[in-house]
Amino acid sequence: MNWQHCKIKGEFTIDTLTRRDFIKLIGMGAGTLTLSACGLIPPASFDPTTAPVISTPFTPAPVSLAVDLTAGKATLPIFSGAETSIWRYQASVQEGSAESIQVLSNSYLGPIFRVGKGQRIQVRLKNELPDPTIIHWHGLRIPEEMDGHPRDAIAPGASYEYDFQVINRAGMYWFHPHTHQLTAPQVYYGLAGLFIVSDGEEAALGLPAGEYDLPLVIQDRTFDSQNQMVYLANGMMDQMIGFLGDTILVNGAPNAALDVKASAYRLRLLNGSNSRIYKLAWQDGTPLTVIATDGGLLEAPVTRNYITLAPGERVELWADFSGRTTGSEMRLVSLPFSGFSDSGGGMMGSGMMGGSSLPNGAPFDILSLKVGEKGADVLQLPARLSTIARHRAEEAVNHNNPRSFTLAMQGMIHTINDRVFEMDAVAQDEIVRLSDLEIWEFANLEGSGGGMGMGMGMMNMEMPHPMHIHGVQFQILGRQITQGYESAYQELSGGFVDDGWKDTVLVMPGEKVQALIRFEDYAGTFVYHCHNLEHGDAGMMRNYKIES
Ligand code: C2O
Ligand code: CU
Ligand code: CU
Repeated sequence: MNWQHCKIKGEFTIDTLTRRDFIKLIGMGAGTLTLSACGLIPPASFDPTTAPVISTPFTPAPVSLAVDLTAGKATLPIFSGAETSIWRYQASVQEGSAESIQVLSNSYLGPIFRVGKGQRIQVRLKNELPDPTIIHWHGLRIPEEMDGHPRDAIAPGASYEYDFQVINRAGMYWFHPHTHQLTAPQVYYGLAGLFIVSDGEEAALGLPAGEYDLPLVIQDRTFDSQNQMVYLANGMMDQMIGFLGDTILVNGAPNAALDVKASAYRLRLLNGSNSRIYKLAWQDGTPLTVIATDGGLLEAPVTRNYITLAPGERVELWADFSGRTTGSEMRLVSLPFSGFSDSGGGMMGSGMMGGSSLPNGAPFDILSLKVGEKGADVLQLPARLSTIARHRAEEAVNHNNPRSFTLAMQGMIHTINDRVFEMDAVAQDEIVRLSDLEIWEFANLEGSGGGMGMGMGMMNMEMPHPMHIHGVQFQILGRQITQGYESAYQELSGGFVDDGWKDTVLVMPGEKVQALIRFEDYAGTFVYHCHNLEHGDAGMMRNYKIES
């Protein structure tokens, strides 16, 4: 391993890692990690005079938290009767406060990290699965070697050392496997956890905390009569549409119910499902008050009659139960909406080619909240939550000619600009410059002719694609719906919350979405992909490269 060429960066690396860690990091990569020594460095755009968290480039922050995270198999009593075989992450804190890691009892979900902006975190992933795996930290702005690119997957028995500084603002991020063609099943069998960041701006608001801060991960699974998870029972259709389970779980529990106090809560919702889209609402029609999205707090709360939450997206609600009578119940539900190809009549909807018994758009209960005695006094929800520096479209280097990504279907797979994922390939039009502000446009042209839709006659493939970009948080510039697609669109578009920072955005059939993205942190190769995990595994993912 020649890391002399890292020069100053190499010195930093030596200081950062113990010799043992460093050897281990190199050893386990078996050729895939030859650039790692150069990766554990401050942002390429690093400027010591303006850097928010690292005081000088040569004195790395001390480690705030070091955790061993083991990915392995286990069984859990999810239902009465037979225990369910699951895969999960288990944490053990090696250094730092044990309170930084919260465990959801009796859940397959991994631990919840609770860390502060600016902290340096070390995680040693140990793979005790029968498959290769790697962890991706969804939403975090970290160097490429820390990001969990599929090429960094480690073999069964191996370990991977993460070491990064949290530069994201307060918000709820998450982590999950990102293994080539195996992300969907690995997440499905249970591998996912939350990564919650706090910062001073947020703390000053005095939002509900402790027992009044509830992370809620919404997922769907299918279980057989032996209580075992069933994946892709509908074969190719599940792969093409995305897996849709018939049982809704919150934090790993079916028929989820929670006792709450008559007080205000911060409900942090993650759609951790492989492909299901939720149309979230309170069953009694109370509007939802949104305070945060993927990348943290909005500038000001917004209300919606319902919220559209696609896989990978997060939304945080302020829910005040203080006016509710003791013993009353509030239910978080998913409202009905016109489904997509899987439920829209035709072959797939009729079940001739399989399909879920709970298609996208079917209504169901998600969580029941039983209101108990009076809890903590409710402080007023602040009218102003945070400051968001707005990107300006005119300042984008490509504002006259946005970088466009066409989402379409070819054969049985979904493509991005006619391409599918290749481990190391980066096309000319997938290279951006570090520190540039760009407009990216995702155009979902599925169903608009071509591809298999027309060829096979009865299949009208209209698929929504939640597009996710690694390494950045972005702002939504605008959306445009093609004529003829409005009616299905309007059933969900009222639930988009585009005001804040995003890392995943739903692109509906017939829709074009423009995002403003500044590639400001680290040079390197990252992926962007559809967060319908079956689509991603089937190739709806590409590399893009940030060049310094
Ligand atoms: Cu949450 Cu590349 O993923
Ligand atoms: Cu991600
Ligand atoms: Cu997709």
